[in-house]
Amino acid sequence: MVSFLIAYGTDEGQTATVAEYIETVLIGRGHDVTTRDVTEASDALVDDADAVLVGSPVINRKHLPEVVAFVERNSETLATRPTAFFQLSFASAIPTDWARDGAQEWVDGLVERTGWQPGRVGLFAGAVKYTQYGAFTRLFFRLFSAITTGDTDTSRDYEYTDWDEVESFATDFAALVERRVAAETSQTDDRTATVQEWKSVTTNREHESSPRERGRGRRLAEIGLFAGLLGVVYWLVRRQSLRQS
Ligand SMILES: Cc1cc2nc3c(=O)[nH]c(=O)nc-3n(C[C@H](O)[C@H](O)[C@H](O)COP(=O)(O)O)c2cc1C
Repeated sequence: MVSFLIAYGTDEGQTATVAEYIETVLIGRGHDVTTRDVTEASDALVDDADAVLVGSPVINRKHLPEVVAFVERNSETLATRPTAFFQLSFASAIPTDWARDGAQEWVDGLVERTGWQPGRVGLFAGAVKYTQYGAFTRLFFRLFSAITTGDTDTSRDYEYTDWDEVESFATDFAALVERRVAAETSQTDDRTATVQEWKSVTTNREHESSPRERGRGRRLAEIGLFAGLLGVVYWLVRRQSLRQS
């Protein structure tokens, strides 16, 4: 049995739901799991865990500040254990290269800023919870969805999380940690191989483009999206004025 800590941040609850799902998968494999919002995850909990998973949504193109602070505070301990990071974003709900690359860039930014290199990365689609948003956020997501997913009915919420993907991520990480623990109790050579395995990064999606290509692609995508948003705003205003006349 291995002890896992799952520390997550959340605004509207979807990352908490994913954390709970991962917890269920790990418990199903016979492990001891502690799941906490990062604001309640003490440094002692990190010390006590054999392996740690950290989760955050992307909000306004950033991870939650409390998650970043948690990683910065515990970076030394995290470097000595198998770790994984899972991210929820709307970008991962959009099946295009520029959105996929954008989702990866937020993780790259976190690694650069904190120096923490998680051995496994899960990029998951989150949810759009129109019924929980204020007027501005609801309008923004409605416009953005009009040119991406097409899900513009603001009287309901949309969940994009692929639970099979979450399960594979949790299973893969658990198997890695189990191999490491087994290797620790056997030969040194095995252990060296397994330590290298958990230090080499694997993401649940493959990324082939270079950082430069990603930057260029994203700039083009942002210009395209901005133009698209202007088009939708123009169409909405025009429709409104036609109705009034
Ligand atoms: C105010 C706000 C800003 C967001 N900004 C981004 C963003 O910059 N990029 C993105 O891909 N998703 C963005 N999202 C989508 C969230 O990442 C997604 O809804 C996620 O499921 C939220 O997780 P939570 O319910 O745990 O807070 C944003 C959502 C909200 C409400």
